[in-house]
Amino acid sequence: MKITSATFLGSAVGGDQFPPEDLPELAFAGRSNVGKSSLINYLLNRRSLARTSSTPGKTQTINFYEINGAFRFVDLPGYGYAKVSKAEKAKWGSFIELYLRERKKLVEIILLLDVRRKVGEDDIQMLNFIRAMGYQGRVVLTKIDKLNQSQIVRARRDIEDKLGVPKEHIFIISNLKAKGKYPLWESFNKLFQEKGFPINLERQISPEQKNA
Ligand code: GTP
Ligand code: MG
Repeated sequence: MKITSATFLGSAVGGDQFPPEDLPELAFAGRSNVGKSSLINYLLNRRSLARTSSTPGKTQTINFYEINGAFRFVDLPGYGYAKVSKAEKAKWGSFIELYLRERKKLVEIILLLDVRRKVGEDDIQMLNFIRAMGYQGRVVLTKIDKLNQSQIVRARRDIEDKLGVPKEHIFIISNLKAKGKYPLWESFNKLFQEKGFPINLERQISPEQKNA
């Protein structure tokens, strides 16, 4: 299967605005500014399908993207955005929680972490929540273009040791340099197949193919 279509389905600010639960979904979670929306664009070879911004707090709604009419990517609002009031944070938190708790065809939750940053309390909370919901979680370390090889290896090992994430569930990505998406796609294919969805994305021919 190649990506033949990727469309923005809509945004939700409440549970009644979620699309029907007819297709499998993969959700992208993580701190604000970590690169969730950028990763969705990179995975789908689209420059600006998902809106990105250098200012944290860009995505404040749950955004649904439908691919090939077969599955969806779900861009969750980022947490840890300092300018938001406590009440607002609580509201977002429970809204994200509602989605993660109730979504029947949610296949897996992908947690993004900035490779340069110390893992925060809220990251750990999110990972614990993912596990408490019965998901394994996948961890994507973003912005690897900002570090050298040995720093990346160290960051990766830290996630393994300190957060107890198995090696095969950790991925390293540069959205900026378009690097690292194929191993992630492979893991998505595996997840879909494990859950019985006949989805198998092929490697696309693209200029990055030679360095991925
Ligand atoms: P919220 O919507 O606020 O939750 O943020 P987000 O996680 O969706 O982040 P977004 O994709 O908007 O990216 C935030 C900023 O980081 C943008 O300026 C991106 O260009 C930049 N960025 C994203 N990924 C990378 C990457 O891999 N490397 C570098 N250097 N910059 C990146
Ligand atoms: Mg975003």
